[in-house]
Amino acid sequence: MAGAGAQESFAELARPTTETAAFRQMDAYIQHGTTTTMEHCLAVAAASLALARHLPASFHEEELVRGALLHDYFLYDWHVKGAAPDAWHGFTHPAHALANAERDFSLTPIERDVISHHMFPFVPIPPHTREGWIVTLADKWCTVREVLISEPYIALERSLGWRA
Ligand SMILES: [Fe+2]
Ligand SMILES: [Fe+2]
Repeated sequence: MAGAGAQESFAELARPTTETAAFRQMDAYIQHGTTTTMEHCLAVAAASLALARHLPASFHEEELVRGALLHDYFLYDWHVKGAAPDAWHGFTHPAHALANAERDFSLTPIERDVISHHMFPFVPIPPHTREGWIVTLADKWCTVREVLISEPYIALERSLGWRA
């Protein structure tokens, strides 16, 4: 925990979630290209915090990072036929992610908003919180990187000690 007035690092904010076996389950599923869903969520959380810290507004940083880390906690490989609970992954996966996260973690209203509305505008209900808007933007940015670049998060994972 950082002292009064000091900013906690991304690693410090992420650790309570990323150290859980529940979170690590997402490393078994591919999100885009060579990126697993765990790596995608990690990158969206890091990008969300960086973006928030560049804006002249205050954010609940712990909830921003926790919500981003769990925003795609749907726990299947959507590329595998029959793996998803329905045929509408693009639209329904936020609800599956929320149900799983409610089961495995204790969520705040901000974290629920982040997870539920991160697919806006593809799912037409917008986020109700600043944190939700930030994650919606960071998610799109990271998705573009993952589609265009092979292994886009090597530097991020090295900075966290996840890779040699
Ligand atoms: Fe998603
Ligand atoms: Fe995502």
